[in-house]
Amino acid sequence: MGRCSVERERAVAFGPGRVNLIGEHTDYNDGLSLPFAIADGVTVSATARGDGEIVARAHDLGEEDRFALDAPPRADGWRAFVRGAVAELRAAGLPVRAASLEIRGTVPTGAGLSSSAALEVAMCLALLALSGAEDADRLELARLCSRVENEWVGARTGLLDQTASLLGERDRALRIDFRTLDVRPVALKTGDWRLVTVDSGEAHSHAGSGYNERRRECAEAARELGVASLRDATPEAATALPDPLDRRIRHVVEENARVDATIEALAAGDLAAVGALLDASHVSLRDLYDASTPAVERTVRALRDAGAAGARMVGGGFGGHVLALLPPRVAPPEGAIVVAPSAGARLLRT
Ligand code: GLA
Repeated sequence: MGRCSVERERAVAFGPGRVNLIGEHTDYNDGLSLPFAIADGVTVSATARGDGEIVARAHDLGEEDRFALDAPPRADGWRAFVRGAVAELRAAGLPVRAASLEIRGTVPTGAGLSSSAALEVAMCLALLALSGAEDADRLELARLCSRVENEWVGARTGLLDQTASLLGERDRALRIDFRTLDVRPVALKTGDWRLVTVDSGEAHSHAGSGYNERRRECAEAARELGVASLRDATPEAATALPDPLDRRIRHVVEENARVDATIEALAAGDLAAVGALLDASHVSLRDLYDASTPAVERTVRALRDAGAAGARMVGGGFGGHVLALLPPRVAPPEGAIVVAPSAGARLLRT
């Protein structure tokens, strides 16, 4: 994937986090999502070394990792992402040079804003740029980064976060069809309305939450229905299956429909309708998908009480941030992050 050009001694890459406007827990069901890249993310500065090692420094944590480039050993925490990225790049036959990596982030971790994808993407782009391979195909890179999470971190996540981070565009969300990997930009300008995220105060981890269990349930439901994925399921067929599989199916089928309904509402400039769809998505994630927590519920209620037109958990759920759409004149609550579609992953000037 990609053609090699000129090696360089230093490269700096930025990988943005993402907010998923709607279409949650649909990516690993061949469904639809509507995410956008945000301005916050992770920056990786890479400098070539001559000793066959990768030395990575996570500045926000004050921690370091050091390992042989040609045989990254397994590890936990942030090190799993770094070692996994190096190993998967090499396994894909991409050129990786020994390097010192300085990692700095502005996106909160464990928040549902994809600090993980931001790190994987920035790491891969910086390492590829050192080898002159920065034109690697971005959908292939998204798949590679997702293998890092699946194989090295133990989170069976889908392609949503990496695709949003790598292909994000300013002022646009991306309608991603995970069956075909067709990605279509959708104008997302909210005018006087604002999208904000608010921390529920509860960190989540995909490898450790109910995420992997939901994924197993969806695979089981598809098997029971005799379909390749829940993209092909119908709510009528779902009624034949026992609880909770019937509810998981309903969530996926209805959430896919909400993605296109949101796109229609945006095209019509009907932001109140977008708010109602965010609410409906949240209720479904809570009642049909069982992905909410008391802290998330409190945060959603507080945002609605403060005048939000809609609010919902964002990302994998089981904690993390809550996304809300605020009408004009409703002030963002203290600590809220105002989010807007921003440019996708890129090399920065060194
Ligand atoms: C996490 C995963 C994604 C996706 C969302 C839920 O962010 O990394 O692949 O499944 O949860 O929509």
